[in-house]
Amino acid sequence: MLRLESVCAGYHGLQILHEVDLEVNEGEIVALVGANGAGKTTTLRAASGVISPTSGQITFQGEPAGGLRTAGLVARGLVHVPEERALFGPLTIEENLRMGAWTQRKTPMSGALAEVFELFPVLADRRRQTAETLSGGQQQMLCIGRALMARPKLLMLDEPSTGLSPKLTWTVLEAIGMIRDRGVAVLLVEQNAGQALRLADRAYVMESGSVVLGGTGAELADDDRVRAAYLGL
Ligand SMILES: Nc1ncnc2c1ncn2[C@@H]1O[C@H](COP(=O)(O)OP(=O)(O)O)[C@@H](O)[C@H]1O
Ligand SMILES: [Mg+2]
Repeated sequence: MLRLESVCAGYHGLQILHEVDLEVNEGEIVALVGANGAGKTTTLRAASGVISPTSGQITFQGEPAGGLRTAGLVARGLVHVPEERALFGPLTIEENLRMGAWTQRKTPMSGALAEVFELFPVLADRRRQTAETLSGGQQQMLCIGRALMARPKLLMLDEPSTGLSPKLTWTVLEAIGMIRDRGVAVLLVEQNAGQALRLADRAYVMESGSVVLGGTGAELADDDRVRAAYLGL
């Protein structure tokens, strides 16, 4: 569904990504792990049209996506949740969620809203509270919930567990598993490699702007190099 082939990209003429190849198929959770600065966020930015690749191919559902505007990609079903949680603090949870559905103006919102509340019951309980009153974990749930309001086919999440306790991290990762089970593919960037590899169907390891390893989540979790470099084992 999403395919990056030999993608090179960077900032202000400085090349960060070197011939990145990566694929996400329907119904999969694919984890992208690697040290800080490896190029994970840059990969998501290239895939979602925030930055343009300098060379290589990006296709989404078989059609070229490289160079497309982000809004066009959202309408086609590719939604990127960046690491910084850009919520509307003074607005309520429900209002924040409704903003996520702006690409879906022709479809009634109630179904999507009910699905988000089913996934994150704590948001339903607090729907009339403002976003700024939520804890970090609840804000992360709201970011994911808002992305789901756009009815994505592929959800790209950048470090959803940042700043969360291990218990809340697992709550969020479990919800990501349920999202996959509802038919939404997920590309998950995580520094928390151990948990991400356990959850993921497949995974890639990035180093210095290149994909250096790929395999099933279980294969990579058992790989000695991965264990030494990322899992501290
Ligand atoms: N907006 C930017 N402008 C210039 N350099 C950037 C920018 N964002 C990231 N970089 C650089 O790109 C490299 C990869 O960063 P990033 O993709 O954020 O890695 P990761 O998400 O794996 O931690 C780093 O060397 C970082 O300093
Ligand atoms: Mg990053």
